[in-house]
Amino acid sequence: MEIDNVYKCEVCGNIVELVHVGGGELVCCGQPMKLQEEKSGEEGTEKHKPVITKDEKGCVIVKVGSVDHPMEEDHYIEWIEASTGEKTIRKYLSPKDKPELSLCDCVDGCKCGDDCSCGSNIVSARAYCNKHGLWKSD
Ligand SMILES: [Fe+2]
Repeated sequence: MEIDNVYKCEVCGNIVELVHVGGGELVCCGQPMKLQEEKSGEEGTEKHKPVITKDEKGCVIVKVGSVDHPMEEDHYIEWIEASTGEKTIRKYLSPKDKPELSLCDCVDGCKCGDDCSCGSNIVSARAYCNKHGLWKSD
């Protein structure tokens, strides 16, 4: 068990993230919760692996997949998370939202011009697909 590990109950669908390691077993609906492995290199990568990139203004943006992941009622990215190593930012998404997370600190769009460094301290990202599980950036 490690900090940030994500566990899912295969009976009711509850999903939890570990924020402090105690050592006990996580149980839900009478059975152990299942650790969600962080996938990165296997099949499905092109639609699931978070990519840390920059938008047209230079703000860091996390996209999910090199091909946009579907955002339909029964299959979508539930959340995207970006981390500096010390600090984590998570955006919850709904079907029809764009599967991306902007790290710009400006309100109503980036006003930093060419010198934007918003989000430049992001070192990793994760995304959770309701059908295909947890994915991690390079
Ligand atoms: Fe998926």
